Amino acid sequence: MAQQGPRFAFHDLHPDTGSFLDEVVAGLTRPRKALPPKYFYDERGCALFESICETPEYYLTRAETALMRQRAGDMARRLGPRCAVVEYGSGSGRKTRILIEALEPVAYVAVDIAREQLRATALEFAREFPRLAVVAVCADYARPLALPALDALDARRRVVYFPGSTVGNFAPEEAAGFLGNVRELVGPGGGLLVGVDLKKPAARLNAAYNDKDGVTAAFNLNLLRRINRELGADFDLAAFRHQAFYNEPLGRIEMHLLSLRDQQVTLGGRAIRFAAGETIHTENSCKYTVAEFQSLARGAGFEPAACWTDAEPLFSIHYMVVSG
Ligand code: AVI
Repeated sequence: MAQQGPRFAFHDLHPDTGSFLDEVVAGLTRPRKALPPKYFYDERGCALFESICETPEYYLTRAETALMRQRAGDMARRLGPRCAVVEYGSGSGRKTRILIEALEPVAYVAVDIAREQLRATALEFAREFPRLAVVAVCADYARPLALPALDALDARRRVVYFPGSTVGNFAPEEAAGFLGNVRELVGPGGGLLVGVDLKKPAARLNAAYNDKDGVTAAFNLNLLRRINRELGADFDLAAFRHQAFYNEPLGRIEMHLLSLRDQQVTLGGRAIRFAAGETIHTENSCKYTVAEFQSLARGAGFEPAACWTDAEPLFSIHYMVVSG
């Protein structure tokens, strides 16, 4: 389904509810229960994530935004003129605005699974930047993606912009596969501008995912609320608790939902049992040193071209170009 305007197009490639149910059932019937984090982002989940970004403990957004503000001119020079910027996981678009103002690309293609937020943000961009061609694509960017809309754009270079350290929500081997897909999409001469949270002492990381106002807890539990509403399940939200901790050997924050008692949940005609103390693993948020991320990207066919970090340093933004 495509909705067109002179400088705006919307393409809906969103998978149907069937795949949501299938993925939830598959995740909850594994020996170690897990759910894909992409399902956090219904309307309430998007709003809760925006609130997380404003908590005093969640330094990532502030550090990345400040870095974008300081270094956008340098980034624009590196990327060069007449770029088509493809953003994965467009969110509220605050950091993207900084990039677009400095870079003045010919086109902005926003790809996100959260349909309503995507449409609203893309329309705002079309209004704010009247000379920019804006294309919104509702899709799961974790899967290989063909974007025929890109062929029609008169761009010199395709650059994927992937801010927010969302790449950390993939396990390293998944991230390598994802970077390979990005490489295919941008093609020879293409680039990737990606925000990556840095490794740091566990106390700082643990605080960022356990804010004292419980916003992250509400975000995590909202996944069960969504499954109840959209898939007709009967999770008792009061019988699960948010858990987040830094798994230092694996270099990642893990989020779980901890079952507070023995219980049974009905979903899609099945009964799913939970033992007291058992968890549903809902998210990984991998942290990388600059060298670790560069090595991961090299393995996927990218050559590091530049890396910006803040003074502390808390956060990194890498620019990589397709090698060879
Ligand atoms: C979207 N993503 C990069 C966030 C993160 O930090 O991994 C999601 C999040 N989960 C809990 N707080 C924020």
